[in-house]
Amino acid sequence: MSEQEATSSLWDEFTSPVNLILVFFILYLLYKIVKSHFETIEPAAPAPPPMPKLQKDMTVAELRKYDGSDPEGRVLIAVNNIIFDVTRGKRFYGPGGPYAAFAGRDATRGLATQQVAGSEVEYDDVSDLSPDELAAAKEWEEQFKGTTYF
Ligand code: HEM
Repeated sequence: MSEQEATSSLWDEFTSPVNLILVFFILYLLYKIVKSHFETIEPAAPAPPPMPKLQKDMTVAELRKYDGSDPEGRVLIAVNNIIFDVTRGKRFYGPGGPYAAFAGRDATRGLATQQVAGSEVEYDDVSDLSPDELAAAKEWEEQFKGTTYF
C-alpha cells in the first residue's frame, strides 16, 4: 500500500458517519463540562421570615381554623395541650401535605397511636392511652419543641 493510500483510508475511517457522530458527541460533552465550570450557582431563595408568634391559648374548636387553608396560611397543631406553630413545615402539614389531617387539630392521639388523624372531639384527655402510647406522644412533643420551625 502506498503512503497516499494509507492516509486516505485513515481519513475515510475518521469521516465515517459513526465516527463523525461520536466526535460531535464528545465535543458536545466537552462543551457542557467547560460551560458548567463557568456557570455561577444561583443562591437558594432566602426562607420567608417567621410569622409573628400567636401568644394565646385556644380551644380545640378555635384551633380548627389554623389548618393553613386561609390566606394567612398559618398552621397550628396541638400535642399534649401545647400548641405548636408548624407553618414553616407546611410541606408536611399544609393543605395537600401528607400530615394535613393534623393541621388545626389536637394531634396527640394520632401521633401516639401512629394514625394520621386529628382528634374529632372538643376535648380528648387521652386517659385511655397505654403508657407506651403516652410515651410516644411525649416524644413527639419533645420533637416539636426542638424543631427549627419556631
Ligand atoms: C409508612 C409510614 C411512614 C413513612 C414512610 C413516613 C415517612 C416520613 C418522612 C420521609 C418524613 C419526612 C422527614 C423529614 O424530611 O424531616 C416524615 C415526617 C413526618 N412523619 Fe411520617 N412516615 C410514616 C408514617 C407516619 C405516621 C403513622 C405518623 C404519625 C401518626 C407520621 C408522622 C410524621 C410527622 C408528624 C412528620 C413531620 C415531622 C416534622 O415536622 O419535621 N408519619 N414521615
